[in-house]
Amino acid sequence: MRWLVTGGLGFIGSNFIRVVLRERPDVRIVNLDAMTYAGNPANLRDLEDNPRYRFVHGDIGDVNAVESAIGDGVDAIVNFAAETHVDRSILDPEAFLRTDILGTHVLLEAVRRRGIARYLQVSTDEVYGDVERGESSEDDPLRPRSPYSASKAGGDLHVLAYRSTYDTPVLITRGSNTYGPYQYPEKLIPLFVTNLIDDQQVPVYGDGLQIRDWLHVEDHARGILHVLEHGTLGEVYNVGGGNPRTNLEITRLLLEGCGRSHDTHVRHVVDRPGHDRRYAVNTAKLSALGWAPRVPFADGIAATIVWYREHESWWRPLKSGEFLEYYKRQYAHR
Ligand code: TYD
Repeated sequence: MRWLVTGGLGFIGSNFIRVVLRERPDVRIVNLDAMTYAGNPANLRDLEDNPRYRFVHGDIGDVNAVESAIGDGVDAIVNFAAETHVDRSILDPEAFLRTDILGTHVLLEAVRRRGIARYLQVSTDEVYGDVERGESSEDDPLRPRSPYSASKAGGDLHVLAYRSTYDTPVLITRGSNTYGPYQYPEKLIPLFVTNLIDDQQVPVYGDGLQIRDWLHVEDHARGILHVLEHGTLGEVYNVGGGNPRTNLEITRLLLEGCGRSHDTHVRHVVDRPGHDRRYAVNTAKLSALGWAPRVPFADGIAATIVWYREHESWWRPLKSGEFLEYYKRQYAHR
């Protein structure tokens, strides 16, 4: 079996590739990645000599790059390639439309043209929008509220349209907030951990009472793998951790784990515009298919803090150059 993974140098993609190569000895992986700021070769450095792994540098929006990655053919495409950070989508929405919608389109066309047997779109629970109470199910209406989530919702709808129109063999997963090793330090958990290691303050948006459902990246990767192998074509599956926490609760855990105190290290800053208060997904559909998360939240968070402590050589170079410019644009005026 040969699978094309796109965006495999990113956070969830690289963890997925590592899980697949470890647990599926009959699968070979081609990784097509554009190496944007978040696509980091260091995420998969340990696989560079693995004979079942091949890297192709290119953008999913580029038909020729996609063709050359597919080569003689693949059995499946798993699309992780996306612009993913809400705050960046507020500063600069266009890249999100290009990759998350037009890039998805180029991949769907390749699936149609080459008769590829399975296409899995990695999406997000953010497409459901703000969930005041209850949980989002897969057939709930999409009410995205940021340029990021609107782009992902556009991608999802296009994928489902290909199913209705051309009978394209598609699947969609919608994951909740993910944490773990190799996450770019712009997102809540790695940003806060690395700031705290460096004895810097952490910027909590607004009152910090927003709620996210946290999912360990290995559980997320296994959820995607499970849907790829067992899902019904044309269906959408939520993947959630079942760990709803306010941002202040997460902040408290990280302060404790890093030996810092709330009074000196937390700064409440101006809220994100259009900030969704709460996400919550119902995962009964994927549970019925036989998947369950394995990593207890307290263990996952503790291990993640240790990982960032022990991998300064991974994240320190990332918190320079482009990141510092972004950090200034994003936080200086707050
Ligand atoms: P984030 O990791 O950006 O994921 P998402 O916005 O996709 O859920 O943010 C998680 C939560 O943390 C979200 O409610 C916004 C909040 N947050 C802060 O309070 N401060 C920050 O500096 C960041 C990056 C996020």
